[in-house]
Amino acid sequence: MAATPIIIDCDPGADDAIALFFALANPDQLNVLGITTVAGNVPLPLTQKNARCLCELAGHADLPIYAGCPRPLLRPLITAEEVHGRTGLDGIHLPEPQMPLQSQHAVDFLIDTLMQSPQKITLATLGPLTNIAVALIKHPEICSQIEAIVVMGGAVTQGNITPSAEFNVYVDPHAAHVVLSAGLPVTLVTLDVTHQAIATPERLDAIKAINSPISAAVIGLLNHYGTHDMQRYGIPGPPLHDPCVIAYLLQPDLFTTRQAAVTVETTSELTIGRTVVDRWNVTHQPPNATIVETIDADGFFRLLTQAIAALT
Ligand code: RIB
Ligand code: CA
Repeated sequence: MAATPIIIDCDPGADDAIALFFALANPDQLNVLGITTVAGNVPLPLTQKNARCLCELAGHADLPIYAGCPRPLLRPLITAEEVHGRTGLDGIHLPEPQMPLQSQHAVDFLIDTLMQSPQKITLATLGPLTNIAVALIKHPEICSQIEAIVVMGGAVTQGNITPSAEFNVYVDPHAAHVVLSAGLPVTLVTLDVTHQAIATPERLDAIKAINSPISAAVIGLLNHYGTHDMQRYGIPGPPLHDPCVIAYLLQPDLFTTRQAAVTVETTSELTIGRTVVDRWNVTHQPPNATIVETIDADGFFRLLTQAIAALT
């Protein structure tokens, strides 16, 4: 089968970094047409720089990288340096990127690439959905060119940035509302499933044993990124949120899913950014998303470890 054409929208971010490595290590399955960056874990100047550093480290300095929106649609930007560090990639030190940032705005890259593509394109989103929402508002016709959009975002039960909301949706709930109400084939990879993908010491040891620059970068990132979540949740390692999106694209049978109607709270200050997932269809609303519910964590880490080894 031909490789699936994808665009990755991200806010690197430690787990975004591992997701990028994961995707780039599987060129036979995923044809990464470009990487768009958005403000999220850290401000846009850092997310775009980090994406370039990571692609150079992975040997893909040829990949076009674009800067997108520097802030959410309506709300002020909220970042997560307490999790990812001031640089967004604390735990490793990468040289200044030599590869250029593309001059085209990420939103225009998304629109032009989608509208000019002879085939539909899959979007993998790992950060706040601002770029995708602006592209949909500016050029709604892109909907017909989107094969699927797999989103790391939302929570069925507990949030992480607030008791109600997951970070990506919380940062830009209005963008998430635009994406979820556009009639797109959305798949939501929520915290409820990413918290099943814990990088335990045993799993980290398997990655460490690869003993390559990429595996060393992964370990360095996770050693820093893990501390916040391990202390907060009392878990034996960091949850790998964004790599779950890539694993779903590579091997969906590692997951189970359910169709459901999802709406985003965009007004209440108490619960803004909450993804209200009508799991039992009590509202009788038609489903607008595929909700990923479980993951075969051992299978996931086998796939991820193979990918990291392949990138040496
Ligand atoms: O809530 C986790 C998500 O927010 C991940 O994508 C992480 O990188 C941050 O963007
Ligand atoms: Ca992210």
